[in-house]
Amino acid sequence: MLERSLSLAVASDHAGFRLKEALTESARHWGLEVTDLGVHDPAVSADYPDLAHELAGGVAEGRFERGLLVCGTGLGMSIVANRHRGVRAVALSNVYSARMSRAHNNANVLCLGERVVGVGLARELLRAFLDEPYLAGRHQGRLDKVEPG
Ligand code: RB5
Repeated sequence: MLERSLSLAVASDHAGFRLKEALTESARHWGLEVTDLGVHDPAVSADYPDLAHELAGGVAEGRFERGLLVCGTGLGMSIVANRHRGVRAVALSNVYSARMSRAHNNANVLCLGERVVGVGLARELLRAFLDEPYLAGRHQGRLDKVEPG
């Protein structure tokens, strides 16, 4: 279980469906409130920007505290999600980066690639992303400079 329950939205295209399903199950097991925005049928090809815009819009509006996006690489999802003001999306594949994305960057959307990481590592990445606190302090001034005027 996590120390505090978080609202997490998850979404994937067809290429990230199986990993999204596995991580959704883990997140629910850890006690998170998970909203699954789809896709629900991996047999139907889906365009990753449609899913990323929907999830990132929800994070930007404060409907979800965190988001998880999965596609083949995690890259397309992160490019799209970062177009939304207030969204700090990261595509990564190692636990150190997952922790630092929270501690220094206050990342709120994790983007993973089903063709890049196995499910075991992906679970560790998600857990680190959910557990690690933002350090704020000197990092906040830098984050304040991220958003365009
Ligand atoms: C789909 O083939 C693939 O392009 C997509 O899942 C993603 O990796 C894009 O960045």
